[in-house]
Amino acid sequence: MRKRVLSGMRPSGKLHLGHYIGVLANWKKLQEENDCFFFAADWHALTTEYDNTGIIRESVEDMIVDWMASGIDPKKATLFVQSHVPEHAELHLLLSMITPLSWLERNPTYKEQLKEITTRDLHTYGFLGYPVLMASDIIMYDASLVPVGIDQLPHLELTREIARRFNFLYRETFVIPDAQLTETPKLMGTDNRKMSKSYGNAILLSDTADEVWAKVRPMVTDPARQRRTDKGNPEICNVFSYHKIFSDEDTVGKVDLGCRSAGIGCIECKKLMFERMEKVLKPIREERARIVESGISVRDILDEGTEKAKKVAAAKLTEVRDAVRI
Ligand code: TRP
Ligand code: SF4
Repeated sequence: MRKRVLSGMRPSGKLHLGHYIGVLANWKKLQEENDCFFFAADWHALTTEYDNTGIIRESVEDMIVDWMASGIDPKKATLFVQSHVPEHAELHLLLSMITPLSWLERNPTYKEQLKEITTRDLHTYGFLGYPVLMASDIIMYDASLVPVGIDQLPHLELTREIARRFNFLYRETFVIPDAQLTETPKLMGTDNRKMSKSYGNAILLSDTADEVWAKVRPMVTDPARQRRTDKGNPEICNVFSYHKIFSDEDTVGKVDLGCRSAGIGCIECKKLMFERMEKVLKPIREERARIVESGISVRDILDEGTEKAKKVAAAKLTEVRDAVRI
């Protein structure tokens, strides 16, 4: 059965392999059999980047090209930019009237980020309201399925609570959405920390093959393998966890054995993994080049998507104003 699917991504720089494995590969599958809306959440980016706004504008088009290179097809899914559909802001305002402060203050993702992000002051009204804006994005489109990562689950739960509260206070207006937890293994950065452009440990979708190899070659392996003849334990090696994502079962088995028996060297092992990874990256790279050369206008694609999104959003907002009687 076709479902209305909606998801967003914050534009905050070039996309990396983690975005592809964790998010885009899933979107690509979803767009085949569902009515998908995917958007650049530039207002959400603003909640943390309010003093560094240049990065947001710059990133939007880059990000859309990365989506399309990864197989997100504007003929199948509706692609748009959040701030181009200001209806989201009006719904956000109306929802903010009925959202108890305590729901927002006890949100675990909010509390964690306040503690963790120390480089900027996030004690703002906008940042506290992050999930209210996200709720507007979702229920505006009657989305029934929202693919998100595990860190976004509390936000989705809040969305459901806010939608229920609106339906109860006024009248049945919104669909209560379900989360689709993407069950992909987490891809760590090349230094085994979280993959992030700011750590310099990310393999970018726009990297050349040489750039990718330059990041893979120095990856830290099992420190027990000082010499080629030293046996290793693949379970503690990040290269092996990459193999598990990119290589077939047979190769994973061979690498496992080879590592434990010193039958394979680390460089050889990395080369093998790199080749498998390239099977994913090369088509993306080629598609990106094709898109850039073809002179396709990302702006036109976004304008078209915005028009479609706006139609849905405007109709919903009429219903909402009616329900609130304002
Ligand atoms: N908060 C999401 C993230 O950081 C992005 C987002 C904004 C989103 N609005 C959304 C995701 C609506 C799903 C649905 O990843
Ligand atoms: Fe890691 Fe492969 Fe070296 Fe084993 S052989 S330590 S899995 S890189």
